Amino acid sequence: MLQRGERLAVIGPNGAGKSTFLKLLVGQLQPTAGFLKLGGNSIPSYYDQNLTGLDDHATVLREIHTFRRDLSEEQVRDHLGRFLFSGDDVEKEIRTLSGGERARVLLAKLVLKDHTFLILDEPTNHLDIKSREALEAALEGYDGALVVVSHDRAFLDNVCDRVLEIEDGQTRLYPGSYSEYAARKRRERDAAAREAREKEKEERERADRQKQRGARRGEGQGERQRKARRDQCQRYEEAAKRLQAPEARGADRGGRKRGEGGGRVDGRRGELPRSREDEGISRGVTRS
Ligand SMILES: Nc1ncnc2c1ncn2[C@@H]1O[C@H](COP(=O)(O)OP(=O)(O)OP(=O)(O)O)[C@@H](O)[C@H]1O
Ligand SMILES: [Mg+2]
Repeated sequence: MLQRGERLAVIGPNGAGKSTFLKLLVGQLQPTAGFLKLGGNSIPSYYDQNLTGLDDHATVLREIHTFRRDLSEEQVRDHLGRFLFSGDDVEKEIRTLSGGERARVLLAKLVLKDHTFLILDEPTNHLDIKSREALEAALEGYDGALVVVSHDRAFLDNVCDRVLEIEDGQTRLYPGSYSEYAARKRRERDAAAREAREKEKEERERADRQKQRGARRGEGQGERQRKARRDQCQRYEEAAKRLQAPEARGADRGGRKRGEGGGRVDGRRGELPRSREDEGISRGVTRS
């Protein structure tokens, strides 16, 4: 919602849709979605990016005077003087004017209109610094609503008090001047960059931690495997000792010698048990 006296800067990259947005406001295009409502008496005056709306065969003076017959020729000359047309300049035919001069006539005409809603599409494109200052001065006295598309930051800063950003099919409204908008965007960009850097750092640290955990798990596995092998060797040695022991005991009891069956364990003499169950069986048989 734009109120009387409010001044909106419309900004965005080339082709973002700024001129299209203005054409919707002036009714040259109809919205394909949503709606647009203008206040009862807000008939917008439109400065077209393509500098249309002038009679090529009129002189500068006549173009303005025809438009505002209520003004005297002197008043028209004074007004044109504010837009840097002096002396014989006002007698030039519109068709002979340069782009900058044409822009000045058009703007001089627009600000004279009794309007409450002014829409300007890149008004400073053809203006030199002096002409731009003349336009800024003319707009200072204007108290209607203003919508300006421009890439001219200094001009926007001097003229507008809020910013509509059009980008990637989205619009965002920022209260405040263009400089305040730019500072806010810088802060947002810096914050986003900081966040991205922190995220990247976290990711890197997480990856490092995962790598370290993997390495430790690898070491742990190696240690467990070594211990399992040590345990197994120990079991083999114990089993081997137990296999020898009955021989010794048998020799003591019955004088049996090696090779006479005393040391035989379940028909598997000399075989080593493969597990603790095997050991149990060996032990049981030996004792019976
Ligand atoms: N009459 C049209 N028909 C179809 N597409 C169009 C028409 N006018 C503009 N476009 C396209 O709509 C998109 C927005 O154009 P628009 O003129 O609104 O951009 P802009 O923001 O004013 O750009 P610039 O800063 O260059 O003036 C562009 O891709 C353009 O090619
Ligand atoms: Mg445009």
